[in-house]
Amino acid sequence: MSTLLVTGGAGFIGANFVRQTVAQHPEYDRVTVLDKLTYAGNRANLAGLPEDRVRLVVGDICDADLVDALVADHDVVVHFAAESHNDNSLNDPSPFVETNILGTYQLLEAVRRHDKRLHHISTDEVFGDLELDDPNRFTETTAYAPSSPYSATKAGSDHLVRAWVRSFGIRATISNCSNNYGPYQHIEKFIPRQITNILSGLAPKLYGTGEQVRDWIHVDDHNAAVHRILDAGSLGETYIIGADNDHVNNKTVISLICELMGLGADAYEHVADRPGHDLRYAMDSTKLRDELGWAPQYTDTETGMRAGLEQTIAWYSANRDWWQPAKADVEATYAKSGQ
Ligand code: NAD
Ligand code: DAU
Repeated sequence: MSTLLVTGGAGFIGANFVRQTVAQHPEYDRVTVLDKLTYAGNRANLAGLPEDRVRLVVGDICDADLVDALVADHDVVVHFAAESHNDNSLNDPSPFVETNILGTYQLLEAVRRHDKRLHHISTDEVFGDLELDDPNRFTETTAYAPSSPYSATKAGSDHLVRAWVRSFGIRATISNCSNNYGPYQHIEKFIPRQITNILSGLAPKLYGTGEQVRDWIHVDDHNAAVHRILDAGSLGETYIIGADNDHVNNKTVISLICELMGLGADAYEHVADRPGHDLRYAMDSTKLRDELGWAPQYTDTETGMRAGLEQTIAWYSANRDWWQPAKADVEATYAKSGQ
């Protein structure tokens, strides 16, 4: 039996991780979520979970005393908490520096003091982008070249983890995953924004030409990989997580959403592009697949996303109460940037 501290566990990926842990990992008999409940965190994401196994502590990973006490009281820490949205980081980078860099520093120091196992969740964006016609993929040894304030702070947090492993011998692993989609994703993000636009009678919105490529993965596949790393990953190692969807561009995804929701494939609007918009991400997850035996479950022969998108559309259709209160504000913020 083991105890788990999940930072950012009331956000999109973290909440799905807690749900998967409760459903599939009885070895974790106590799960504590540490979450600041920013605009992106939501108590409702943890609704229905057994209270004798899952506890939410509302607090900040930058709070050294709180982090120290919680880390001391758990065996394993999985660190999801972050400011996560590129567009927000262009408007105000300051919370990204605070949470992603200084918050990770506080966790590392607590993990070092108490000799606890840490898994740090990171992103493919630390590698920057590839040209649209570049067939290469990111690997564990690709050099870091982040483009946005968000990705630069995630790169900084990865470097801190690596330095704490090498300099202080902390027991940590890192994973860099591609774009996630699935239930409970904040509606500021690409896929839920389009689904909830259609459900609200608004046009889906495509940035620029839509030729950009994101290597989409269903959130449950990401979280299953994290559990494989916790179970069998080698300490000090980094693992790339991706589902081989690097042939699917934004235009294809938005068209598929339109079709699956009963509209014509081109029933979307082009809006202003994102400044510094990364072109292409592509992930080579061979190490994770070969060494730890992980493989994504959400795959199909067409785009690798049809089944996952159908499930995601069904979830947003059935959970209007979850997203509707935030919709007008999110769209008003985008409208200020012509998006
Ligand atoms: P999210 O924005 O949905 O959730 C982030 C959570 O962190 C929220 O619940 C928020 O309240 C909490 N949080 C923010 N600042 C905090 C602080 N100072 N202290 C405590 N809690 C705080 O993000 P997400 O999409 O679930 O991403 C989770 C992690 O996965 C992030 O580290 C992100 O960089 C990484 N990641 C995301 C993706 C993706 O496609 N979404 C892909 C790869 C990696
Ligand atoms: O690659 C992993 C990253 O994926 C994570 O590290 C980030 O936390 C996560 O937010 C995500 O970053 P992106 O910037 O790639 O995701 P986003 O959903 O914001 O946008 C996906 C793509 O869709 C991107 O090319 C921009 C485009 N887009 C986005 C929105 C919101 C649109 O065309 N229209 C939109 O309305």
